Amino acid sequence: MIRARIISTGSYVPPRVLTNAELEKMVDTSDEWIISRSGIRERRIVERDVATSDLATQAALKALEMAGMSAEELDFIITGTNSPDMFFPCTSCFLQSKIGAKKAAGFDILAGCTSFIHTLSLADKFIKENPKRKVMVLGAEIMSKITDWKDRGTCVLFGDGAGAVILTGEEGDRGILSTHLHSDGSLWELLYMPGGGSANPSSHETIDRNLHCIKMAGNQLFKVAVRALAEVSQEALDFNGLKSGDIDFMIPHQANTRIIEAAAKMISFPMDKVYLNIERFGNTSSATIPIALDEMNRSGKLKTGNLILMCSFGTGITWGGAVIRW
Ligand code: ACO
Repeated sequence: MIRARIISTGSYVPPRVLTNAELEKMVDTSDEWIISRSGIRERRIVERDVATSDLATQAALKALEMAGMSAEELDFIITGTNSPDMFFPCTSCFLQSKIGAKKAAGFDILAGCTSFIHTLSLADKFIKENPKRKVMVLGAEIMSKITDWKDRGTCVLFGDGAGAVILTGEEGDRGILSTHLHSDGSLWELLYMPGGGSANPSSHETIDRNLHCIKMAGNQLFKVAVRALAEVSQEALDFNGLKSGDIDFMIPHQANTRIIEAAAKMISFPMDKVYLNIERFGNTSSATIPIALDEMNRSGKLKTGNLILMCSFGTGITWGGAVIRW
């Protein structure tokens, strides 16, 4: 059986650290509140002249280096992002140009924080169609530029970063075993950015009303997120005839430690097998899972044959999961 296997990973976060102590000076919040409600101690944010494709480029170069590949060998570049460089062209095309991936077809996925699972799902299908293909998929975000720095309910949560993986076809058991994607558009008002699109084109008014920033009903989203993560994780396990105990590592979307703990509890998944880095990076949206995967890969945590369960949720509302044999 041919499977799409991850042959390398890369990630990048900007050097500037924004601590909870600094946020205490910007909005009415406290280090204690942020840590106890979200699990976040600090996050990384970019300087003004950095765009999402710049972060993606750094992550992509690291993944190419690990694979021992040149960018010209890539057949596809698919970036999951909710904070693209521009409305158009897509961030993958900027990235293609920056790394010189002349042969690749590039396009983006906009499906909230779940977008990286969507990119994996597409890579799986492109590779099953032609196992020789080399596909780079990424999650890359600059959330700091769409954050309302006066809204304490959201500004403490998000951060910037990018993660990349390269996949190709391989005979055997290793690779993507399954992906599972869902959405419920009736819940869109739980998390959205109203300004700049065709519904509310950019104008002085949209700027005055601060519509170019994230709007979130955090408390309601929390409950939806717990259920979505638990349900899609169980679905992925059932589909593969697996039990929680068969999984070596869960890599969940890092939005809130309490959401992850509640979802893990619902499916009786032990927290010591859940990878968490939210404390250091906050919620980097579609980049959380590939950054975590790269950290685990580079630190030698992942062993050949390990079973990995990924699960995510995000604006849309979207949610999704994947099972991978490393
Ligand atoms: N500091 C201090 N107090 C705060 C802050 C803050 N930063 N933010 C909110 N509060 C206050 C609220 O105003 C409220 O006060 P009140 O009781 O006087 O009205 C109180 O804290 C409790 O607010 P809740 O919203 O009920 O707090 P909750 O325990 O739900 O935690 C949080 C808030 C962390 C936002 C949580 O709801 C959450 O994580 N929700 C999901 C968010 C999420 O995952 N978003 C992204 C998903 S998709 C993506 O990744 C792009």
